Amino acid sequence: MKPDQAGVDKWSGVAPFWEKYREIIQGMFAPVTDALIEESGIAKGHTVLDVGTGPGEPALSVAALVGPQGKVVGIDPASQMVAAARRMAEQRALHHAQFEIASADSLPFLPESFDAVLCRFGAMFFPSPVDGVREMLRVVRPGRRVVLAVWGPSNRNPFFDTLSRAFDRYIDSSSREEDNQDAFRFAIPGKLLDVFAGAGAIETSERLFPFTIQGPVSAEEFWALRCEMSETLREKSAKLSVGQLAEVRRQALIDLAEYSTEGGLRLPAEVLIVSGTKNRPA
Ligand SMILES: C[S@@+](CC[C@H](N)C(=O)[O-])C[C@H]1O[C@@H](n2cnc3c(N)ncnc32)[C@H](O)[C@@H]1O
Repeated sequence: MKPDQAGVDKWSGVAPFWEKYREIIQGMFAPVTDALIEESGIAKGHTVLDVGTGPGEPALSVAALVGPQGKVVGIDPASQMVAAARRMAEQRALHHAQFEIASADSLPFLPESFDAVLCRFGAMFFPSPVDGVREMLRVVRPGRRVVLAVWGPSNRNPFFDTLSRAFDRYIDSSSREEDNQDAFRFAIPGKLLDVFAGAGAIETSERLFPFTIQGPVSAEEFWALRCEMSETLREKSAKLSVGQLAEVRRQALIDLAEYSTEGGLRLPAEVLIVSGTKNRPA
């Protein structure tokens, strides 16, 4: 299936903001990166693929772990995301981390090239998730794991829900289809697990991973970060008058107050870690 070019262009459009907030997001989602690393058994010297890497995570964190004897490749169809990832690899002198423009459903690698394949918050945007997971299984070595992280339901993730609910007062998003290519496409337990089974994975596993999103930002800074990084919120904002947007912001800040601490925001969060192994030849 061909990549959705309009969707890819949107990701390239918001890439400068993902780059701007890179350090904050890296810290906020670090527990998920750690969970992916643990589940995939990545160790020093391994060769790892990160699919849908955006501006370079978890690829860059994994590159620091595998060290220069290892290798990390990050792929993303959005050219501006790949450019941002390359800039940071250069800045951190991670010469064993390389980044390429590619889509999950057509990975430009030979079979059995990687010790692990990861994807953090990317699978929801694949045009054909089963083709994506099948490709990941093709390029991972027999007996090694493909591990994906996807968001749990919106109402368990105030990172999204606080702003969405405030916007919903003016913009009706209740008509959401179950298979929409959005953050919550795989929020229903078992759905991505079925995709793994359909793609031919063995020893499949799904676990709910609750964690705390912590960031050194005020509620006001978090509002700005989310509105800049999310194309969906940009589109919603553009439909509102100045007065309506000010009211949405006011409501979101009220809702975020319960998560504000002296050290910044602390938001409860839930993701699903879904994984499977490539079968060994009989
Ligand atoms: C929510 S971002 C996640 C970025 C990064 N992995 C992270 O966790 O910070 C989703 C990424 O998936 C990428 N993406 C969209 N369609 C894709 C596809 N067909 N194959 C691979 N990645 C895709 C987007 O370009 C975007 O960079």
